[in-house]
Amino acid sequence: MPDTQAGKLIDPILVPDILSFLAYGNIGANVKGLKDYDTVLWPPVELTYYAYHVMVGLGTIFITVLGVAAILLYQKRLEQTRIVLWGLMLLMPFPYIANEAGWTVSEVGRQPWIIYGLLKTSEGVSSTVAGGEVVFTLIGFLGMYFLLGVLFIYLTLREIAAGPAPRRRLTALPGGAEAPA
Ligand code: HEM
Repeated sequence: MPDTQAGKLIDPILVPDILSFLAYGNIGANVKGLKDYDTVLWPPVELTYYAYHVMVGLGTIFITVLGVAAILLYQKRLEQTRIVLWGLMLLMPFPYIANEAGWTVSEVGRQPWIIYGLLKTSEGVSSTVAGGEVVFTLIGFLGMYFLLGVLFIYLTLREIAAGPAPRRRLTALPGGAEAPA
């Protein structure tokens, strides 16, 4: 965890060379740290860090639970394993949180740049667009996404209320072919 005030990491677990490999595919590569840059070029470090870890933490949980579910499905035991079914159901809202966290990582983490190395966010203000126009467009988008959100919730609840489709029972015919019962 970063402590930007003190300029150090809290309880680091050091794994040498891995970031060089992740960033450049070469364990000998030199990855510049924050301290190699002027502080005016730093993004909000804590927010980026925690948003990233929320995203990756959730991603890791998804991979684990879905991996277990996939194995159980393969073994035809998933539908009898209530705890995994509960886990799958309860995980439903969390991809939305991971999405927002990931988006926060991208948007906050690239500050103060709007185009890295070329254009600062503070220089990206258009002189030909009035503030009111931006607010107006934003309200339009908010309204549209609100309607899409309501529609999404309505359709999801409708699917849940309808329940799963009745399973077709298959009966084996002589010769190995199968026909619906
Ligand atoms: C499993 C571990 C995960 C890793 C290692 C990972 C890694 C990353 C990285 C490196 C970025 C780019 C940050 C940048 O802009 O430089 C990112 C962005 C993002 N991630 Fe993840 N991620 C993971 C899981 C997830 C999950 C589970 C979700 C959603 C369900 C998610 C949603 C997003 C979104 C929406 C963005 C922003 C994309 C954009 O606006 O450019 N991530 N992720």
